Amino acid sequence: MTNQDVNSTPGSNSGPTRQFIAASDVSDINKLVDQALYYKANPFVDKHVGTNKRIGLLFLNPSLRTRLSTQVAAQNLGMEAIVFNVDKDGWALEFEEGAVMNGNTVEHVKDAAPILGSYFDMLCIRTFPSLKNREEDYSEMYISQFIRYAGVPVISLESATLHPLQSLTDIITIREQLATTAIQNRRPRVVLTWAPHVKPLPQCVANSFAQWVNAWGEADFTITHPEAYELAEQFTAGAVVTHDQDAALRDTDFVYVKNWSTYNDYGKIKCSDDRWMLTPEKLQLTNDAKVMHCLPVRRNVELSDAILDSPNSIVTQQAGNRVWAAQAVIRNILAANP
Ligand code: CP
Repeated sequence: MTNQDVNSTPGSNSGPTRQFIAASDVSDINKLVDQALYYKANPFVDKHVGTNKRIGLLFLNPSLRTRLSTQVAAQNLGMEAIVFNVDKDGWALEFEEGAVMNGNTVEHVKDAAPILGSYFDMLCIRTFPSLKNREEDYSEMYISQFIRYAGVPVISLESATLHPLQSLTDIITIREQLATTAIQNRRPRVVLTWAPHVKPLPQCVANSFAQWVNAWGEADFTITHPEAYELAEQFTAGAVVTHDQDAALRDTDFVYVKNWSTYNDYGKIKCSDDRWMLTPEKLQLTNDAKVMHCLPVRRNVELSDAILDSPNSIVTQQAGNRVWAAQAVIRNILAANP
């Protein structure tokens, strides 16, 4: 097979080439979205490109959508996909350079990663943050160590601070909606709103959504959250940030609902005010907005039944698009690493 064969679908060569951990790994987001939407219409058009290629999906945390959509995507490209639950089935991994491993960790990532790299043509990894040590979480040590030692391309299935396959999916879903929505002669308005939750959750999805919407650059973007929930500016710069949720929601076209724990006083719950939950009354402030969430969602805590079960909710469409995001990303990496 030639590279020309591999690169024949619309939107190819938009990056990523060697790793996919952030928006900066993509040279043209719209081209990548075009490619994903092409795959949605033609799932098996590139069934041959991954023949005799094997992809390893490593999970240090639970997953439903990421795990299954990435497997389906790889198989649509003809790859063999093998899932390994590192947290349950593997040896406890050590990530610190120079660690004296006389505690609970059994195998160093610098030993395990090159072995995995010899078994697979591409590795995908999901890790979560500890939410205890911000500096350590934001250093992205786990995924960085895999990238450093694996010797093969690495795709993030969610890292300590970002969730790029989710965010690419989110842009795909917004683009898809825009193609059928009467928003003309202006940019779409997109709001990311904090919502309550009973547990402290990572900032990954919110950070990543902000990073990708800003990098995409084709929406007027507002982030709204209670005081103390500021996200890291490295991701939010370019967005309007407000504590006034009603003002943020007014006339918006898309509302992305997500909880996150605090960034500054790291990993805490500082607000449980259920008035931050999106309700049909609040939705009336919007331009009949479409409501998004990455899932899983705690019903009637983060989002009301009345919203999730309404025609405004596009969460199922959004989750379905995870396959096409993953397929476009894997295919670009295959093309760059024949
Ligand atoms: N949105 C998302 O990443 O879902 P999973 O945790 O089920 O993979």
